[in-house]
Amino acid sequence: MATPIDALDLPTLDAFDPAFVADPFRAIHELSLRSRLARSPFGVIVLRYEDCQAALRDPRLHQGIQRLQDLQQITDERFLARRGQSLLTIEGDEHTRLRKLVSKAFTPRATDRLRPLMRRTIDALLDPVTPLGRADFVADISAPYPIPIVCALLGAPPEDLDRFDRWAEDILKSLGFNLRNDLPAILAAQDEMDLYMEALIEQRRRDPQPDLLSDLIAAEEAGDRLTHAELVVMAQTIMLAGTDTTRNQLAIAVWLLAQHPEQWALLAARPELAAGAADEALRFNGAIRSTLRIATTDIELADATIPAGTMIIPSFAAANRDPRHFIEPLRFDITRTGERSHLTFGGGTHYCLGANLARAELSEALAVLARRLPDLALDGDVTWRPPIGIQGPTSLPIRFTATP
Ligand code: HEM
Repeated sequence: MATPIDALDLPTLDAFDPAFVADPFRAIHELSLRSRLARSPFGVIVLRYEDCQAALRDPRLHQGIQRLQDLQQITDERFLARRGQSLLTIEGDEHTRLRKLVSKAFTPRATDRLRPLMRRTIDALLDPVTPLGRADFVADISAPYPIPIVCALLGAPPEDLDRFDRWAEDILKSLGFNLRNDLPAILAAQDEMDLYMEALIEQRRRDPQPDLLSDLIAAEEAGDRLTHAELVVMAQTIMLAGTDTTRNQLAIAVWLLAQHPEQWALLAARPELAAGAADEALRFNGAIRSTLRIATTDIELADATIPAGTMIIPSFAAANRDPRHFIEPLRFDITRTGERSHLTFGGGTHYCLGANLARAELSEALAVLARRLPDLALDGDVTWRPPIGIQGPTSLPIRFTATP
């Protein structure tokens, strides 16, 4: 029999509590060992793997990212309209239709096509720093890494990279917590990118190329296709969902591996372990640690009755270390097998569309990095992003033996 949530004596978690900030994974893991749910200022946190998966798969729970803008009292209609059309936020039949169409373009072939570019990009970022013997991994490598890949994915020529870099910087602020201040810059970048993509879409309609944009234009399901407006919105969704996530996860992976030098050496010797290393970093310390859902009706979850309108927060950070699901969950081990089932890419209908692409970006980069910087070590204080939203270091000083 489920108990009304208000009658439960649940622990409370505050993401800004200094004890939590000091070691969030440990804090949330310990909480998950004694409770299935916790309260937070934003909503109810779901702590165990099976409950998180149930929440992500429940169609009565809708995407809650919009709450971020409600909490910040954003009323700008252009901003809200764009967000309301994104694959990330729509629900029900509308989501099923759009997802079916875009999935036709996000194929293993589309990912594999980009692998050589991924290797070239990481090599080109390493070339200027290897003779120096030290670098800030974030500024020099991980921050710029995803931009040429998103650019190529969307079919833009390399000479337009700087524009994409600029747009990404401003458009990514739309996931932040300073929306009121950032709105003019966000809207200006969105408008510029829309205009650019509109022209590029027209060009690709006339002259298709082997890129995702041409595949999205061609994607067809029972006579249905993406409209011009849907293609334009999709380009920004890809930019938004696929840039900051990947760059932060790569920096986290390198930070973790620098603390496990024996595993870094193993990766250098056996580059085929790179995919496992990427997945273990995603599991052990994900750049996305939770997501948001809103209950559209009263629901039962983790033996509690939760009223409609409640914000529900499946915690990937807790679920990915759930001992009921993972063997020795507190051990970081790039040779784990059969444990790709972490929740860092989410689950259910909103499961990350770019998961294969992200895995490829991470593993291609890690294989090159371990080969070229086999004695990489941390070289000073690491600083981190604020404890909510996408996580990762803002500065990650590294040193290694200089090579010409
Ligand atoms: C390490 C990198 C990445 C991580 C950790 C990540 C994580 C996630 C998560 C957790 C979700 C689901 C959010 C939710 O259910 O509320 C998601 C959705 C999504 N991701 Fe990723 N992502 C990554 C990279 C990418 C890349 C590279 C792309 C595309 C180029 C991408 C495109 C998307 C899209 C379009 C969605 C929305 C899917 C939908 O709502 O149907 N992601 N991602």
